[in-house]
Amino acid sequence: MDIKGKKAVVFGGTSGIGLAASEQLAARGATVVAVSRDPSKATALPAGVTTMACDVLDRDGVAAVLAACAPYDILVSSATGGDRAIGRFLDMDMDGFQGSFRKVWGYANVVRFGTAHLSEDGTIVLVSGSPARRIKPGMAAVGAAGAAIESLVRSVAPEIKPRRINVVAPGVIDTPMNSLQGDARRAAYEKSTANHLIPRAGTADEVAAAVVFLIENEFVTGTTIDIDGGWLQS
Ligand SMILES: NC(=O)c1ccc[n+]([C@@H]2O[C@H](COP(=O)([O-])OP(=O)(O)OC[C@H]3O[C@@H](n4cnc5c(N)ncnc54)[C@H](OP(=O)(O)O)[C@@H]3O)[C@@H](O)[C@H]2O)c1
Repeated sequence: MDIKGKKAVVFGGTSGIGLAASEQLAARGATVVAVSRDPSKATALPAGVTTMACDVLDRDGVAAVLAACAPYDILVSSATGGDRAIGRFLDMDMDGFQGSFRKVWGYANVVRFGTAHLSEDGTIVLVSGSPARRIKPGMAAVGAAGAAIESLVRSVAPEIKPRRINVVAPGVIDTPMNSLQGDARRAAYEKSTANHLIPRAGTADEVAAAVVFLIENEFVTGTTIDIDGGWLQS
């Protein structure tokens, strides 16, 4: 797909990976609507990017935003949906475990209510995470949610053809999702990537470049691209 002149809706497009995707799409000439619960947190959005407010867990709200944006060619969601639970499964607070699936419910709403307004050659990209296929200790909840997302993408791909749907699976990425600052932040990234083939956190732009690849390459659907610094081989 030639992105120039296309319209994109990016849920989670006001921060981190989604913001970087919005910026890269706008730089290629797309008109972008970045959606999140509180878009006022996003400052200095580039020309070509406007915002709308919506919680991805609000089905009617998601459907209304998508109807208001219709028609469009590109649909992306990287909205985290809410907090995720980290820790041993057998010690886990089950509300926390279930809450980690807010990301899945949000993505499901976006795909369910968003496909109808997607152009015939339109394309969808979601964002899972490396624990979907290589789970480190304490990541049972995010692993299960990520695996559900990747399975959903494979299930939906045949249903929406000739439109396409794919998923990017990031490893450890330096974004505002991590609230640590300064030395504590640096140390956390060093520790969490020490045994990766590329022992550093990735950038939101490196993940967004894969989102753009999946949008542009018209021979890719129903699959996952890993942007993980070698997490899967750690
Ligand atoms: N960063 C990493 O290391 C990493 C690794 C693997 C996977 N991922 C995945 O990549 C995706 C993007 O993560 P990120 O690091 O870019 O996170 P981020 O910087 O925290 O951005 C999350 C975005 O989602 C929006 N959002 C969150 N909950 C929402 C909701 N209920 N409704 C609507 N919008 C919502 C946020 O805006 P509002 O707060 O205004 O709603 C924000 O725009 C997530 O699915 C995350 O799980 C990230």
